Amino acid sequence: FFHTEIPEGLRRLPGPKPLPIIGNVLEVGSKPYLSLTAMSKRYGHIFQIQIGMRPVVVLSGSETVRQALIKQGEEFAGRPDLYSFRFINDGKSLAFSTDQAGVWRARRKLAYSALRSFSSLEGTTPEYSCVLEEHICREGEYLIKQLNTVMKADGSFDPFRHIVVSVANVICGMCFGRRYDHNDQELLSLVNLSDEFGQVVGSGNPADFIPALQFLPSKTMKKFMNINARFNTFVQKIVSEHYATYDKDNIRDITDSLIDHCGDRKLDENSNVQMSDEKVVGIVNDLFGAGFDTISTALSWSVMYLVAYPEIQERLYQELKNNVGLDRTPVLSDKPNLPFLEAFILEIFRHSSFLPFTIPHCTSKDTSLNGYFIPKDTCVFINQWQINHDPELWKDPSSFNPDRFLSADGTDVNKLEGEKVMVFGMGKRRCIGEVIARNEVYLFLAIIIQKLHFHTMPGEPLDMTPEYGLTMKHKRCHLRATMRARNE
Ligand code: HEM
Repeated sequence: FFHTEIPEGLRRLPGPKPLPIIGNVLEVGSKPYLSLTAMSKRYGHIFQIQIGMRPVVVLSGSETVRQALIKQGEEFAGRPDLYSFRFINDGKSLAFSTDQAGVWRARRKLAYSALRSFSSLEGTTPEYSCVLEEHICREGEYLIKQLNTVMKADGSFDPFRHIVVSVANVICGMCFGRRYDHNDQELLSLVNLSDEFGQVVGSGNPADFIPALQFLPSKTMKKFMNINARFNTFVQKIVSEHYATYDKDNIRDITDSLIDHCGDRKLDENSNVQMSDEKVVGIVNDLFGAGFDTISTALSWSVMYLVAYPEIQERLYQELKNNVGLDRTPVLSDKPNLPFLEAFILEIFRHSSFLPFTIPHCTSKDTSLNGYFIPKDTCVFINQWQINHDPELWKDPSSFNPDRFLSADGTDVNKLEGEKVMVFGMGKRRCIGEVIARNEVYLFLAIIIQKLHFHTMPGEPLDMTPEYGLTMKHKRCHLRATMRARNE
């Protein structure tokens, strides 16, 4: 790469000098969102590093990222062939695999339409506007009960441990038509260990770039493979049960609708993309995985920010009390009347930037960006954290201040400010679960803030340091919650 001929009129990318074999691994370090943000100040919004033997282009700045992912979307929409990605969903993941553009596009379309139809489906009772709302309201109520039980028994609770089960149940409802008990060991052991997954697939994991490391024993890598294997077995078992009870006149959930699609496709002689049934039904694996880890991380961080900023928690509660009341559970249609809650969520997304980089991208052909030459098959990191903390875009970016998203009189969310926050990626690979995710984070929060008051443990300082990964988590900890009295 460093010796590549640069076509006339284009420039060679700037960047730090790499060491032999390890490249810039030492400078990238264990907090790539910070080190690569610092490098963007020195080298600009487009520069190149080398991780191990492999060159990586790092993009920052909202204009440069927009140029690559939207204006030149086709050229930047690939995924690199990374070692760890081969173990996800048996190498057949929609989000991580190196599928040909045509196959990826067809699978993405299928996934998107399955998600859309099974979240907007009518609820089982007229009380709910759609099944998504129904699942979240039910799970929200179970969560409150569960937290009360745990508080009575132990005097404190671990937020991630309980939230993740509630969130997993919402996506399980849509994908598999079933939910799990909060003490179900099989589900718990799967969803509660997702930390290792994120740590391995986070941008910049040296084992993905230095082939020799793949042959050295690594505890994290072993755990990662183990999680993937268990995850696949879990989904495979449910899929087999669906095949055994499948009835084309009664499509129960997303798994059924994907099985149904395999049948339709065989009848459709014009379908020009060849895909195995496994690749079609395997989509459910991606939806389930992406659907619980991201949203539970967002909610768990939200609870941390609530206890870190008690005055904000109080304002959110008063907004709910005034605009929804205390006599009924909040619903999706209350959202426009809760601008402070929406501003709070935007500020959580921005300030925590818990998805600091998108999933790595890859160029599909030789290209250029801002006058710099980038060869085909170059791995590209998109630094979302940098955009969300760019002093060019944000006043006082390091302070947590939801008011930055509100109009001066506090009654409206400034939509343009909100759109500057980048957590779902952009362009062709943009997250397909965004609408569900935004609705789910909003509704779960509205439900729990209306009923519960969260506190820190006396004498235990709150640790808000993120642990680096694809989704960054806070350290596991214990908090307290008390039921709100009606006169609060
Ligand atoms: C991809 C963020 C929730 C399904 C992504 C990407 C990001 C992201 C940053 C990668 C974009 C890129 O590579 O450029 C989030 C956040 C969420 C969330 C912050 C929650 C707060 C969900 C949910 C689902 C989902 C609920 C599905 C139920 C997917 C899928 C992809 C994806 C399938 C891969 C798309 C592709 O490669 O074409 N998401 N996501 N996500 N997300 Fe989400």
